[in-house]
Amino acid sequence: MSTPSLLILPGDGIGPEVMAEVVKIIDWYGEKRDLKFDVTMDLVGGAAYDKHGVPLADETMAKAQEVDAVLLGAVGGPKYDVLDFSVKPERGLLRLRKEMDLFANLRPAQCFDALADFSSLKKDVVAGLDIMIVRELTSGIYFGEPRGIITEGNERVGINTQRYTESEIRRVAIAAFELAMKRGKKLCSMEKANVMESGILWREVVEEVAKDYPEVAVSHMYADNGAMQLVRAPKQFDVIVTDNLFGDILSDCAAMLTGSLGMLPSASLGAPMENGRPKAMYEPVHGSAPDIAGQGKANPIACILSFAMALRYSFDQGDEATRLETAIEKVLADGVRTGDLLADEGVTPVSTSGMGDAIIAALDASL
Ligand code: IPM
Ligand code: MG
Repeated sequence: MSTPSLLILPGDGIGPEVMAEVVKIIDWYGEKRDLKFDVTMDLVGGAAYDKHGVPLADETMAKAQEVDAVLLGAVGGPKYDVLDFSVKPERGLLRLRKEMDLFANLRPAQCFDALADFSSLKKDVVAGLDIMIVRELTSGIYFGEPRGIITEGNERVGINTQRYTESEIRRVAIAAFELAMKRGKKLCSMEKANVMESGILWREVVEEVAKDYPEVAVSHMYADNGAMQLVRAPKQFDVIVTDNLFGDILSDCAAMLTGSLGMLPSASLGAPMENGRPKAMYEPVHGSAPDIAGQGKANPIACILSFAMALRYSFDQGDEATRLETAIEKVLADGVRTGDLLADEGVTPVSTSGMGDAIIAALDASL
């Protein structure tokens, strides 16, 4: 097979800093594991707006369609708050998701042993936590029509539409069941079938798909109860499947169970391409954190773990993904911390690149 290709879009805020550490890791794999990637760097979000007047240039979009995987840092920042909605940095990200048709967004929430004290919940509630939220990413209220702000009589009305076709629900449900089969064989689907027709259809379609996965224990929960259960007893869950908006909210909630948003990766997957690899984009769950950008304070682990997901889901390198995850666990167990993870007094934080270097040292030690 030809050298796998990667499009790297560092984006805004801390995006470029954390992505620089990922690039070091990619280089390490090329040198030490003979795992080489054909890397292209480009702009997205505010950075793209500054150069092109749009948050994603057409050429960048075309390149994203061509490569084996896209790695994205983060988009947005206060500088861009004044921009028209249509060119806001987030629109670049949403365009990538929509045009690549990345319908299954995998958001793991895993609590590293060394960090169980960081959670706002009691340690025994979160220690050993390992759940996977599968969020539908290309439909629902994020994209439904009609939408807009219109004038009715003498006041304005804001409109968004929650809309799901059966096939949209089915394909994300199948992705979630497939994952459940590889994990704990337990799937909880969340919607609000008590108040939304789209929720009723969601539940019906998930039940239909469930017939093909008799080994998976399926449950259904209203999403509000799901939010409550996530903070009450998160370890009851293995895989959760839910729509775009509920998934956005529930995944932030699940993320915080693990102590820091700076730790969580994500994969957004679409249909298989000709070479059998899924269309894919990998990004940390955290945002661009403009308040700490450019200071070397950001935690690069979420972005590095996103590359580990790329190794696993795009490049069939599950063992190498595990090597990288284990290296990160080791570094954390050794007490290496960026500022976001500082609990103990007297511990000196390492910089963003210090964390990257520590992970590379742990990778070296793994050989
Ligand atoms: C996320 C983010 C995005 C979303 C924003 C930046 C558009 O919150 O990936 O969770 O709402 O999907
Ligand atoms: Mg979000």
